[in-house]
Amino acid sequence: MKVLIVGNGGRESALALKLKNDSRISKMYFAKVNATTENLGQNVYEEDVIALRNFATREQIDLTIVGPEAPLVEGIVDEFNNHDLPIFGPRKRTAELEGSKAFSKNFMQTNGIKTAKAMVFNAYSDAVEYVENQKFPIVVKASGLASGKGVVICEDLDEAKSVIHSFMIDRIHGDAGIKVIIEEYLQGFEASVIAFSNGKNLFPCIPVKDYKRARNADKGQNTGGMGSVAPSPQFTEKHQEDFVENILKPTIAGLQAQNLQFKGVIFFGLMITENGVYLLEYNMRFGDPETQVLMALMENNLLDVINDCLNGKDIELNFKNEKAVCLVMCSGGYPGKYEIGFEIKHIEKVKDSQVLFAGASKHGNTYVTNGGRVLNLVATGESFEEARKKVYDDARTIQFDYEYYRDDIGKF
Ligand code: AMP
Ligand code: GLY
Repeated sequence: MKVLIVGNGGRESALALKLKNDSRISKMYFAKVNATTENLGQNVYEEDVIALRNFATREQIDLTIVGPEAPLVEGIVDEFNNHDLPIFGPRKRTAELEGSKAFSKNFMQTNGIKTAKAMVFNAYSDAVEYVENQKFPIVVKASGLASGKGVVICEDLDEAKSVIHSFMIDRIHGDAGIKVIIEEYLQGFEASVIAFSNGKNLFPCIPVKDYKRARNADKGQNTGGMGSVAPSPQFTEKHQEDFVENILKPTIAGLQAQNLQFKGVIFFGLMITENGVYLLEYNMRFGDPETQVLMALMENNLLDVINDCLNGKDIELNFKNEKAVCLVMCSGGYPGKYEIGFEIKHIEKVKDSQVLFAGASKHGNTYVTNGGRVLNLVATGESFEEARKKVYDDARTIQFDYEYYRDDIGKF
């Protein structure tokens, strides 16, 4: 069979490497390739949903797996379904659970899902009036997709007013800021749970911890992710029960009640507080870099899991009883401005980690940086210390100009 993977980050490299030895797959296609996937399949240059669908029809693609949120929110699954092309992911309507925080909050409130108290505003003056009577810190969110930059924790009224102005009036995130959500601030630690859906039921993976901030000790700007570990060491059995009862089960019921069932993955962004587990957000796709550690520990055959979900069958997920660490090596300056085009040296000397390229391309035999998050190093071990040592030893071996990575991934 022919498989198309849409997206070209570390997440897609992890999915591709998990699938690559499956003898049922005759050819893989990537929209687009990176330095990992270009060795595994054909580059697809088409970008928009219609062009990809035309490509899939022409090449008779048997399965399409979508990494990033944008094509899902644009309706790639509806488009493929309308042309009888098998694809793993939610329809546009369901992808709105990620694409619109207003829709998503409404879904959580309607279906009794434990989440932070929040109000949705369409008018600037109403949002400002509301925030004048609130306690601080408070969280201001642009409703639409804003590349992870649409959430600001505001320490005081002045900051909140200025953020609301920048979203709703200045439109710094374009139409994403037409609606704004103002939400109670929750204190705690975060965990990501990714679950597979077969259209009826949700099957959660082990919980993952991702490291969002650019600097050690969770300082610095929010990023697309600087590393991840699995299983999350702080997430206890009790948290799992709380999650299942107050978030997972009502989500399954809500999807059914609102006719939003889908075959794909759903990602629960959780905040664990003194009062238990709260849902901050849904993403309707594999997390990045959560997927990298999950694929390292998952014992199931990924193609079987996806096929079973697409066929509406129940699945049983199994994970190795080990620890996994993923370290992201970045271009200095990320998530702000950075330069690209530097040679990535000594990849051949990497010993104990899996190298998953993201913002990197290959020119002949030379690897070159071409993005903010350049590559991921993933290793497993009996302990986090063991897995950590592997990725950090290999990170010190790899060299490129202005490289940057956090020192504390997997250190608790
Ligand atoms: P979201 O896209 O809604 O998950 O928000 C992005 C990040 O902002 C989260 O991963 C948290 O780190 C932070 N955040 C979002 N909502 C809250 C909240 N209610 N309380 C505290 N932090 C939050
Ligand atoms: N790691 C968070 C995300 O994939 O959105």
